[in-house]
Amino acid sequence: MKPSDLKFEATIDCARALDAADPMSRWRDEFCIPQTNNKPQVYLCGNSLGLQPKRLQAEMDQELEAWRRYGVGGHFEGKYPWMPYHEFVREPLARLVGAHPDEVVAMNSLTVNLHLMMVSFYRPSPERHRIVIEKGAFPSDRYAVESQIRFHGYDPDSSLVELIDNDGSGLLSLSTLDAYLNEHGDSVALVLMPGVQYATGQFTPPGEVVELARRHGCQVGFDLAHAVGNLPLTLHDDDADFAVWCSYKYLNSGAGAVAGCFVHRKHSQRTDLPRFAGWWGHDPSTRFKMGDKFVPAAGADAWQLSNPPIYGLAPVRVSLGIFDEAGIKHLRDKSITLTAYLEYLVEIRLAGRIAIRTPSDPGKRGCQLSLAFADAKLGKSVHQAMETAGFVGDWREPDVLRASPAPLYNNFSDVFQFVDELARRLSQ
Ligand SMILES: Cc1ncc(COP(=O)(O)O)c(C=O)c1O
Repeated sequence: MKPSDLKFEATIDCARALDAADPMSRWRDEFCIPQTNNKPQVYLCGNSLGLQPKRLQAEMDQELEAWRRYGVGGHFEGKYPWMPYHEFVREPLARLVGAHPDEVVAMNSLTVNLHLMMVSFYRPSPERHRIVIEKGAFPSDRYAVESQIRFHGYDPDSSLVELIDNDGSGLLSLSTLDAYLNEHGDSVALVLMPGVQYATGQFTPPGEVVELARRHGCQVGFDLAHAVGNLPLTLHDDDADFAVWCSYKYLNSGAGAVAGCFVHRKHSQRTDLPRFAGWWGHDPSTRFKMGDKFVPAAGADAWQLSNPPIYGLAPVRVSLGIFDEAGIKHLRDKSITLTAYLEYLVEIRLAGRIAIRTPSDPGKRGCQLSLAFADAKLGKSVHQAMETAGFVGDWREPDVLRASPAPLYNNFSDVFQFVDELARRLSQ
């Protein structure tokens, strides 16, 4: 279903007709929609925390049962033995991000993985010491980058470069990155970019970033927190050096769930890369010989530190099963239409009071729209009142309400009701 197939109208009847024509509508029923006042919330907050799949409870019970029943034997017994547990998510994760299975691993949390990746891929020298990020990057990334620069004895004032377009849009276009790299590229060690930027919702295809950065010999990594599960990715073909992401947003794996990491295959046999090592990164065939010498496992697995937390990884396994069944390309088709409907309603009903900060080109955004209020104080109080009433988006200072219809569990009626409520409250 494409936007052109069905005409949008700002009515609940239209929203319901769009829902009736939606081939992905059955997935909503697979999720626990939180309630407020005994009514399902209008939950457009998958950019922050995705919803719980109903099928997860039984799978979690099964893991607890394995522990009850087998004790330490659970490492080898049960349906999903714990010893190779991260293997169970490898293939679906690779499919989701467009990687070979040996290029991905589920481990740790996002910021930890970002540090581990920078240990290997940020190798500054006096000539080439800079890290380029987008201005307004997620604070954790900025802290991580700054601390890595200092750790290597460099000064963030000269080594940390934050780029933004100078047109006041808050976006970063490839031409701005290109212009910077053309002038200073030979001093840049690492370009670290978001797939989907958390505040603006802008999507920049990783392959296009890599293409620019490679011309200048830079390493290129991505924080895909807001991109994974939101749109299809092709990390291997894009030739990214590394990527990291979390699993609690569009991957619906619960707060603090085990994160993911991609390391391009071309790096897997390199012996010159420094790495912080732990026993789970050791070649599994000899790991339990408990030798003194670290022998890296093949591929991204070599960056693992610890044995995986099963109760943080089980939701990832379950969630990736859903993505495999639903298909990220089908989800993306729906997402494009769903977000286009949100955009249409905001433009028709909220013009002059809200400006959309996210690019209007569907190729340059995922499901999120960042709604900037002309009156930020009013916007914040309306957002808070809406949240209390069960219309859930999230606020980002100073003036943005992020609204992110997730195609797995949101429908067109959600989108209509959210904008309708917003318009009603802003008119009061
Ligand atoms: C873009 C981005 N990067 C990094 C993080 C930090 O993630 P974590 O706390 O899992 O390390 C977040 C968290 O929301 C994020 O949105």
